This record gives sequence, C-alpha cells and structure tokens, in this order.
Amino acid sequence: MAHIFDPARLGSLTSERRQQAVKPGDLLRRAGLQANDTILDLGCGAGFFVLPAARIVGESGAVIAIDIQPAMVLATQEAAKQAGLTHVSVHLAPGAYELPVGLPKTDWVLLAYVLHEVAAPQKLLAVAQAALKPHGRLLIIEWPKEEGPHGPPLAERLAPADLAAIYRPLGLRERDFWEARPEYYALVLANQ
Ligand SMILES: C[S@@+](CC[C@H](N)C(=O)[O-])C[C@H]1O[C@@H](n2cnc3c(N)ncnc32)[C@H](O)[C@@H]1O
Repeated sequence: MAHIFDPARLGSLTSERRQQAVKPGDLLRRAGLQANDTILDLGCGAGFFVLPAARIVGESGAVIAIDIQPAMVLATQEAAKQAGLTHVSVHLAPGAYELPVGLPKTDWVLLAYVLHEVAAPQKLLAVAQAALKPHGRLLIIEWPKEEGPHGPPLAERLAPADLAAIYRPLGLRERDFWEARPEYYALVLANQ
C-alpha cells in the first residue's frame, strides 16, 4: 500500500545529496522548460523543483506550487520567500484530487515523485491534464522500478509501463523519456 510522504522527513527532500543526484534545474531544462513559461508543481513538497523552475521561467513566467499537506505548503512558501522569488504562489490542495478554484491553465504541470503515493494515480493525472493549456506538457518524474539505496520500497514504485496503462486511456502520449538511475526516470507527455 502506497503512503504519503511523512513531513517529519521534509529535510531529506531538499538535501545536498538529492540536489547533486537529481540536479533539478538541469532536469527541468532537459524537459524543455524555458523563460516565460508557466508551470504548476502538483505535490511540490518542500519546493525542491519550485525554486529552480522559478529561476528558469523568470519573472515574466510563473510557478504555481500545490501540496495536500500544510507543512509542505509552509516549507515551500518559506523557501520561495527566502530566495526572493515573487512569481511563485503556493496553495494547499482542497482535496486529494482537487486543485484550488480559479487557477490559470499552465504550459507545464509537474508531478515529481507523487504518483506512486496516491491511491488513484489516474485520477490525479486527469486533474493535472485538465490544468494544462491545449499545447501544454505534463512532466512526470518517478523512481525507477528497482531496488535502490533511496526512495520507497520496490512494491510501491511505478514502472513506465504501469504509468502508460493509466495515461494512454486519457489521450496522453509520450513526447520524451529519459532515465538517471537509480534516482529517477522522466516522462514528458502531451495531449494527442
Ligand atoms: C515524495 S514528495 C515529493 C515532493 C516534490 N515533488 C519533490 O520531488 O521534492 C510527494 C509530495 O506529494 C504530495 N502529495 C501526495 N498526494 C498528493 C495529492 N493528491 N495532491 C497534492 N499533493 C500530494 C505529498 O504531500 C508530498 O509533499
């Protein structure tokens, strides 16, 4: 049974080890995020991807960060404030498969290390898809389906094929895929 990330371990989400292993700014650029873009980070945690995303899109872009746990929302708000990033807005999700009302559609939605935590990943994917502009891109980052020194147990991990079985029926198609094992695989999806 998958479980939601424990906020008591919040520090591990922004550790130096993870910064070096994942290199979130490089990852976002590799996916295609660029200046002026807007991105919604759904399941933002402590803001690991929020800060580099905000630096890449610049002040004429925007980052909307959302999490279902208040401790994560507070941590991301504080991180953005400390970094002086004013084009970041942080919100508490009103429910497990819900976004706050009135958000603008975005060029990107990021689901980083989130889908393996939810009971109904297809439902969350559909929420993410609905938040995209027509030509927007969905970026999914997940743990490789293999035993590793970090991350959740093997049984909780989602393989690329597990994901394909849930996003393809939504009309989402692969635009890019790469791996940086054992830390992640990345998948860029778009509407057909
Ligand atoms: C493993 S953490 C990853 C955080 C961040 N994306 C990162 O890579 O550092 C997963 C996050 O997703 C959040 N989350 C889980 N289910 C969610 C849902 N249904 N809606 C919004 N956030 C969710 C958790 O609260 C947690 O902060």
